[in-house]
Amino acid sequence: MTRPIAGVTGGGSGIGAAIATTLGQRGYHVVVTDVDLAGAQTTASTIESAQALQLDVTDPVACDATVNTIVAQHGRLDVWVSNAGISKMQRFIDIAPTDLARNFEVNTYGVFYCGQSAARAMITLATPGRIINTASMAAKQGRVPYLADYVASKFAVLGLTQAMAFELAPYGIRVNCVCPGFVATPMQSRELAWEAELRGIEPDAVRALWIADTPLARLETPEDVARVVAFLASDDAAFITGEAISVNGGAYMD
Ligand SMILES: NC(=O)c1ccc[n+]([C@@H]2O[C@H](COP(=O)([O-])OP(=O)(O)OC[C@H]3O[C@@H](n4cnc5c(N)ncnc54)[C@H](O)[C@@H]3O)[C@@H](O)[C@H]2O)c1
Repeated sequence: MTRPIAGVTGGGSGIGAAIATTLGQRGYHVVVTDVDLAGAQTTASTIESAQALQLDVTDPVACDATVNTIVAQHGRLDVWVSNAGISKMQRFIDIAPTDLARNFEVNTYGVFYCGQSAARAMITLATPGRIINTASMAAKQGRVPYLADYVASKFAVLGLTQAMAFELAPYGIRVNCVCPGFVATPMQSRELAWEAELRGIEPDAVRALWIADTPLARLETPEDVARVVAFLASDDAAFITGEAISVNGGAYMD
């Protein structure tokens, strides 16, 4: 029997690498994509059945081309995970229009374009596919320092997830998002340094603040997120769509 096919964006690092690895362990052939091809290749090389493709999610033509390549090679597309994202910590009053635009291009438009490409293929193939978007705890609350553009872009992902779920439900396609908290990844290391500088405290003190904000009292791991993505991709979640699942150790409860 052929393996189900899962595409993951931003799979070359952090949460995306963990999602790709977890889906691989659960029997998928994983297409690991990233704008950083070397990163995608490194992730794919550790997974039993995987391949790497370069994809910049801000390019809608490339999103279509990548999905079409996958379908041409494998004849199917079962799961698509739009996970690629960026952040840059700055005071709200200092965020330049170019930074704001870049944030939305990757975090929101990227999810939009990839979702369109994946959905078109799933509809054409009559596949009851699953699309999972990586949003954030910052998609549900704006009480987040120095990330106003990121917060706005992630709130948009949550709304988009619901709109996609509503329109794609007649095709049997489920669409959900995960909302991680303080996840130990390269993105978090960058944020640790920025927040320490902006607050005028040591990075260790920032880390301690994040852990103190988390009732389960530790930083989140990429695998904490990946297991929930795998659940949403599975038949155990067969009647869940349009949902935004918090995976944050209780750091924000809604
Ligand atoms: N780390 C956290 O605490 C945290 C919390 C909540 C949500 N998130 C979200 O999780 C997702 C993954 O974050 P991470 O922490 O693993 O970050 P990361 O920086 O470790 O990995 C992000 C990956 O996305 C890729 N990427 C960046 N721009 C791209 C583009 N234009 N096209 C394709 N790929 C691109 C990068 O090359 C990188 O491999 C992001 O959407 C992020 O917003 C992270």
